[in-house]
Amino acid sequence: MMTEYTSSMSRRSVLLAGAGVALAAATPWRAPADGVREIRLAAAPGRALLVGSDPQTDVLGYDGKVPGPTLRLKQGQPVRIIVENKLDQDTTVHWHGIRLPNAMDGVPGLTQPPIRPGESFTYEFTPPDAGTFWYHPHANSLQQLGRGLAGALIVEAQEAYPADREILWVISDWRLRPDAQIASGFGNPMEAGMSGRVGNAVTINGALPTVESVQAGERIRLRLVNSALARIMALRFEDHRPVIVAIDGQPCDPHEPEGDHLLLGPAMRIDVVLDMVGEPGRRYRVVDDFYDDLAYTLVQLAYDEKPLERRTPLGAVARLSENPIPEPDLASSERHELALQGGMMSGMGRMMGDGMMDRMMDGMMGGGMMDGMMDGMMGGMGGAAWSINGTSMSGDGHAGMKPLLTLKRDRTHILALRNETAWWHPMHLHGHSFLVLSRNGTRNPRREWSDTVLIPPRKFVDVAFVADNPGDWMLHCHVTDHQMSGLMTVLRVA
Ligand code: C2O
Ligand code: CU
Ligand code: CU
Repeated sequence: MMTEYTSSMSRRSVLLAGAGVALAAATPWRAPADGVREIRLAAAPGRALLVGSDPQTDVLGYDGKVPGPTLRLKQGQPVRIIVENKLDQDTTVHWHGIRLPNAMDGVPGLTQPPIRPGESFTYEFTPPDAGTFWYHPHANSLQQLGRGLAGALIVEAQEAYPADREILWVISDWRLRPDAQIASGFGNPMEAGMSGRVGNAVTINGALPTVESVQAGERIRLRLVNSALARIMALRFEDHRPVIVAIDGQPCDPHEPEGDHLLLGPAMRIDVVLDMVGEPGRRYRVVDDFYDDLAYTLVQLAYDEKPLERRTPLGAVARLSENPIPEPDLASSERHELALQGGMMSGMGRMMGDGMMDRMMDGMMGGGMMDGMMDGMMGGMGGAAWSINGTSMSGDGHAGMKPLLTLKRDRTHILALRNETAWWHPMHLHGHSFLVLSRNGTRNPRREWSDTVLIPPRKFVDVAFVADNPGDWMLHCHVTDHQMSGLMTVLRVA
């Protein structure tokens, strides 16, 4: 398991030492006649030891594993990924954050027919950007993602990044019953109108974490992926100062996070450089305290007794090399207002924050109070809990969906995303990365590219991008319950 996550740098040096034979033996990729790298992936049921000891949990996973295999691609090199559906339901794979041709985007009905059970679909694309991405289904998303179908997709740059080691944390959130099986009740309308399905077990790379072993003096590049359905995380590293070098795979000026927290909404990725400045033999906690009264220790950094011998001192944290994203031209841009609406009222939000969800749910489910509340909440929205500019696209989308907007190709567009609700929304656009221009009217001091921007309740964010990728693209909240119940739309680039 660990070998999968060692750095490309160290692996490369090992391979170089062993010459070309080792290279061929170590690479799992097939090389078909046309020379395009080929990967096979199966969406399949499996069992996973999520909670450390028996019992195992029945999951759905790529190649039956959670998370699925980490796909390491090379920037600018074409890849062919053959996905076989061994589930008993339709599926697709979406390559989250990769700027690829529309037909490869994995949205059933919109960009491809669903992959039926027993069938397969061949995805082919050339990743233009190096960085940390991930893949997941875009069909029956609550169940399929919530039962484990997700994996990291790392696109490697030509040149190695100066760090001693690389660590990947795919962080997932599960709602488990006492027997370690995944609880049913996906898509409960009550949760859909609130925070979404936040679980009770947070795993790193498919297991409840205890420690991450480190050595004093090391410089680690840590890639964080939040693959949760709904859980937002605010990670704090006790006595350590992570430096953010990439957001959603895209390089940024190295900087420390505001308020010492790494804010990581569903689907978001952050790459940090972590200098191991702790004392040998000691342990340091990594705490997630996004939900006030529900803070927990995610994992501990466990220092080896022996520090790393280093001949030359560490310099400043290096910037990652730039990705070739077209630069927005704000002077000639078109502006589009998008209002995010719906959900339950704010009072509920406060109760949720106090961790009262369970008690409240019990009371309401039993008392039949829920129907009345749901009626009130959904009044005028045709059964959906959420909407964008008064329209609600729900489920996983469907064929013939009308785009909310048509964006002129190769022009710069500004999306003014206004969160009029009492809940947080990580808003994600397919097929493009955008610059976060401003938050609540305050100009962003940094050049911050992302594909998923987290918008707090009643706040607003302006993002800009060049619509250079033709096709119909999803724009949706990545709190999966919100996506499924109306916080989703389609933007056409033509
Ligand atoms: Cu992770 Cu529609 O996306
Ligand atoms: Cu996406
Ligand atoms: Cu949302």
